Amino acid sequence: MSDFIATCVAGCEDQAIEEVKQAVGPVDSRRFFLKGMFFFSTVLEKKEVFSRIESADTVFLASVVFCMKKTDADIDSIVSAVKELLVFREDGVERSRALIGPGESFRVECNRRGTHSFSSVDVCRKTGSFVCGFCAAKVDIKNPSKAVRVEIIGRDAFVCIGLAKEVSLSKKVEGFVKSTVGKKPCFDARNKMKDVIEKWGKLICLDDSFCALDLGAAPGGWSAELSKVCGRVFAVDTAYLSQETSCLSNVVHVKKRMGDLVESDLGGVSKVQFVSCDASMVVDLLERIIFKIAKNFLEKGRFLVVTLKFPFRVKKETADHQISEFDLLARKSGFTLIEAVSLRHNTAFEKTALLKFEGN
Ligand SMILES: C[S@@+](CC[C@H](N)C(=O)[O-])C[C@H]1O[C@@H](n2cnc3c(N)ncnc32)[C@H](O)[C@@H]1O
Repeated sequence: MSDFIATCVAGCEDQAIEEVKQAVGPVDSRRFFLKGMFFFSTVLEKKEVFSRIESADTVFLASVVFCMKKTDADIDSIVSAVKELLVFREDGVERSRALIGPGESFRVECNRRGTHSFSSVDVCRKTGSFVCGFCAAKVDIKNPSKAVRVEIIGRDAFVCIGLAKEVSLSKKVEGFVKSTVGKKPCFDARNKMKDVIEKWGKLICLDDSFCALDLGAAPGGWSAELSKVCGRVFAVDTAYLSQETSCLSNVVHVKKRMGDLVESDLGGVSKVQFVSCDASMVVDLLERIIFKIAKNFLEKGRFLVVTLKFPFRVKKETADHQISEFDLLARKSGFTLIEAVSLRHNTAFEKTALLKFEGN
């Protein structure tokens, strides 16, 4: 088994675990007491895991760090763990595993979460000076060939030694803005759909003869709100719906990537009367994915509501510019942008757009 620590958008651990599973297959996973991190093990080798995750289309995953050894979160234990990784005993003789050779350059990288009597710099200094002496290696902070990576999480420390470029992997958090302490994470999304219904419900003419397609639906706040005003809601997401939403008799969970949606997923329904998408996507991703799906499944003359994400807090002019680009792209796909506004429950990094499908 190989073990990894992953970081992700805080509050979206389940979605990030699902992304890992989609990329590498079955994993044993465990969440930590801290948000935005989890642990997973797989039967695959590190190289295979990194290569699959690197090429996977992920939204919430931020980084993956390989773990070779777990120990206690104190400096002596960490140094001992490093020594145990560097050498092994054979016939009573200590032999090197050649992870770091004489004269080779290395650096110690430490991330510490929790309360400890030492700092990350203390860990780097003590571990670094041990490796220098033990391996006759030299420290190079800027461009080392090897790295000793130490992840400290509460009472545990996880250690890895390897090529500097291969101890961890970073992923771009696609089109989603990290929630910060005190700010609302994606789970408050339900209120945005309440705002949508209040503002545009009459124009959209939502009623119980409608089938709605909710793309990127988990954990399911939007679908739950839509289920009150539509006859049936298809909630499309690779992640699981909350128990509250999955219990609703008129919500059908289509557990797959929205790009892979086919007519048979909608149980014989060929066209829906409303499409929504809150999948945390920036404008160009929306254009590539959402319009294509909406064109396939939305009845002509009906409406699409999407959340437009900005990768950071943008100035009004930048937001306006992105919205006019979105307008152009929408028109090319047969949609008219009716409005793109900040609803009461939009964050500072997003707006909600209402579009009408004029036809192919
Ligand atoms: C912000 S959350 C949506 C919250 C939702 N509106 C609610 O009310 O609970 C974004 C969701 O989009 C999903 N998502 C992102 N890209 C996706 C894709 N390509 N296919 C399916 N789901 C996707 C994620 O799994 C995540 O659950």
